Amino acid sequence: MSNQTINLNDTLYQYMLSISLHEPDVLRSLRETTLKLSSHNMQIAPEQGQLMAFLIELINAEKTLEIGVYTGYSSLAVALALPETGKIIACDINTETSAIAQDFWQKAGIAYKIELRLAPAIETLDSLIKQNHSNSFDFIFIDADKNNYLNYYERSLTLLRPGGLMLVDNVLWSGRVADRHNHDKQTQAIREFNQVIYHDKNISICLIPIGDGLTLIRKR
Ligand SMILES: C[S@@+](CC[C@H](N)C(=O)[O-])C[C@H]1O[C@@H](n2cnc3c(N)ncnc32)[C@H](O)[C@@H]1O
Repeated sequence: MSNQTINLNDTLYQYMLSISLHEPDVLRSLRETTLKLSSHNMQIAPEQGQLMAFLIELINAEKTLEIGVYTGYSSLAVALALPETGKIIACDINTETSAIAQDFWQKAGIAYKIELRLAPAIETLDSLIKQNHSNSFDFIFIDADKNNYLNYYERSLTLLRPGGLMLVDNVLWSGRVADRHNHDKQTQAIREFNQVIYHDKNISICLIPIGDGLTLIRKR
């Protein structure tokens, strides 16, 4: 018994997956395809995809936004959980990895739910704000370049509806955020983001130590 979050060793992690993960075949196949890429550790953990799908169903989300698509695992997990009328605006700048994502969205039969915007995400978010999409998104996932986390957060908070949910990935950054000798730019950017949202009175937050650390943010 403990009143602290448990440490998972590999045996316990595998056990946890064996009694909790229901990963659709198409997601498993995408994970196996991505594993062949040297950048594969950019992908979210499968249990995180399942959590995201669970949250989409829980809040009956329809209008969603993703910042950072990579090969499409998180967007596919969300799209599979969305109703027929659900939509994702998916932002990325990498045409090669986005092509893999699009291939799997087609294979899964959910491509019609996803609109890929290949442009720096700040531009896409600013254009959505200009086009009167403020206060309208049910769910937003931030998982792109860390140096822009605060920029993404501020714009996403504008776009999110009151009561809507924002998820932000990599907030524990493999532990580097807690290493006071680490001053690299990305680590500092995540630390700054974590501090800012901790003090933001417009939101409620909950940090879940799943994957690389995931913060759930509810707009008040
Ligand atoms: C950690 S990966 C996303 C992982 C993805 N959510 C998944 O489930 O596999 C980060 C992605 O952010 C994209 N990215 C980096 N800088 C960006 C920018 N300025 N605008 C949009 N996307 C960007 C990268 O191309 C990369 O695909």
